[in-house]
Amino acid sequence: MPLTSPREMFERAYHGGYAIGAFNVNNMEIIQGIIKAGEEERSPLILQVSAGARKYAGQTYIMKLMEAALQETDLPVVLHLDHGQSFEICRDVIQAGFTSVMIDGSHLDFEANIALTRQVVDYAHDRGVWVEAELGRLAGVEDEVSSEENVFTDPDEAVEFVERTGCDSLAVAIGTSHGAYKFKGEPRLDFERLENISSKLPNFPLVLHGASSVLPEFVEMANRYGGKVSDAKGVPEDFLRRAASSGVCKINIDTDIRLAMTAVIRRFFQETPEEFDPRKYLGPAREAVREMVGHKIKNVLGSSNKM
Ligand code: G3H
Ligand code: 13P
Ligand code: ZN
Repeated sequence: MPLTSPREMFERAYHGGYAIGAFNVNNMEIIQGIIKAGEEERSPLILQVSAGARKYAGQTYIMKLMEAALQETDLPVVLHLDHGQSFEICRDVIQAGFTSVMIDGSHLDFEANIALTRQVVDYAHDRGVWVEAELGRLAGVEDEVSSEENVFTDPDEAVEFVERTGCDSLAVAIGTSHGAYKFKGEPRLDFERLENISSKLPNFPLVLHGASSVLPEFVEMANRYGGKVSDAKGVPEDFLRRAASSGVCKINIDTDIRLAMTAVIRRFFQETPEEFDPRKYLGPAREAVREMVGHKIKNVLGSSNKM
């Protein structure tokens, strides 16, 4: 099955009130775990690659791993660039065969974000590629993505931004952030703002970044076996279900994958210090990804059996 565009996936998700999971991939085990979960749940999937992932694995390896994954599945799968920072990176991955790109001009001022997004849209649409853009800014630090504070998306600006750029989907800032430390006190998202944006942009797919739930099970396991992940807090899963019924068609998850793998590997190292065969811990880490992604698809995103 060749890679597909998000178009039909999002149309169905939008009207069905569910969301498609966009899972960050960095190596073979992560890709295999996600694809297996998708297979078991018969769910469409988005696999996304950050600039950091591209640097870590190399684009050729990513493409070849995806090619192998696609040979073994009939699921609709989108290959998406996560947080593209420039026209050039978007162009490069489009030339390599990605079916969707994010141009992240959220660090720029409104006019400069529009100009950059428009440039990517013109190039991508000529080649049938989907473009996600971002307006507003998420706090949090990742390898290639960082910002000190949240700047929530203004609903009227969102309408103007979509009209002037022609982007296909829009990532909005409503209080989520990247990484494992999303909230100091009680988790809170600005659903009123989300509903307002969604009502001003009918039939238009929105995207939620920073949507990991930072599952306590894995935080506790990581800490029990020598980790130091304290005060970690994510987006409660019922918040994600609510977002999916308010125009959010794509929900981004990376931190939950990192935590699941790390917790299981830490446990293995501590319980069996005499072992040194990487397959013995990368195998269970892959299983943890499969189980966690399966849970998200089935119990949170609602995309099971939506092929
Ligand atoms: O939004 C960021 C993703 O979690 C990717 O993170 O840039 O460290 O690969 P990364
Ligand atoms: P998390 O850090 O919450 O997993 O967010 C990932 C993300 O938004 C990737 O773009
Ligand atoms: Zn993100």
